[in-house]
Amino acid sequence: MKIVAIVGSLRKGSYNLQLARTIQERYKDKFELEVADIRSLPYFDQDEENNPSNAVIDYKKKVSQADGVLIITPEYNWSIPGVLKNALDWLSRVDKVMIGKPVMITGVTPGMLGTIRAQLHLREILASPGIQAKLLPPAANEVVINAAGQKFDEATGRLTDEPTLQFVDGAVDRFISFIRH
Ligand code: FNR
Repeated sequence: MKIVAIVGSLRKGSYNLQLARTIQERYKDKFELEVADIRSLPYFDQDEENNPSNAVIDYKKKVSQADGVLIITPEYNWSIPGVLKNALDWLSRVDKVMIGKPVMITGVTPGMLGTIRAQLHLREILASPGIQAKLLPPAANEVVINAAGQKFDEATGRLTDEPTLQFVDGAVDRFISFIRH
């Protein structure tokens, strides 16, 4: 099984990227996780959508061929970061590779509310006509990781908080069954 991760932070030390790396390693026997390169994507430009750059072509191909997409994002100003919106806008046009694609949402913040507002906003975006993703139902699957400073190991850059890892284990297993059925 192949899953593409779209990480909404470009920061080197990003907690959300650290979650992606944790998931990549922890479930490597269950699926292959590739982190999409959204840094190389140009700003979405409707004039370019039928003749996009190689970065866009490669990115859309990866998403199109994946069995599922995992979105791992911080919250910026009560919504999703612009880089993530840009990456989703590219996917929403021409061949519309997200239609029916299984998607799981996760997010990490050093703050208290665990990216909840961004995730609610993201759900709306993913339901839009050009995207129409097949979202893992939120009940019991809302991976909203707060207080990241206490849950990630500074030296290894990995999620190490055991109760959080167990919760992620359950949500990931449900995502795998969701993709299969
Ligand atoms: C933030 N942050 C933030 N946090 C939050 O819980 N709600 C918010 O609305 C915002 N807004 C916001 C805007 C901008 C421009 C920045 C840079 C930051 C804090 C954010 O959660 C924190 O920086 C995370 O560490 C970002 O995620 P990464 O880069 O660690 O993955």
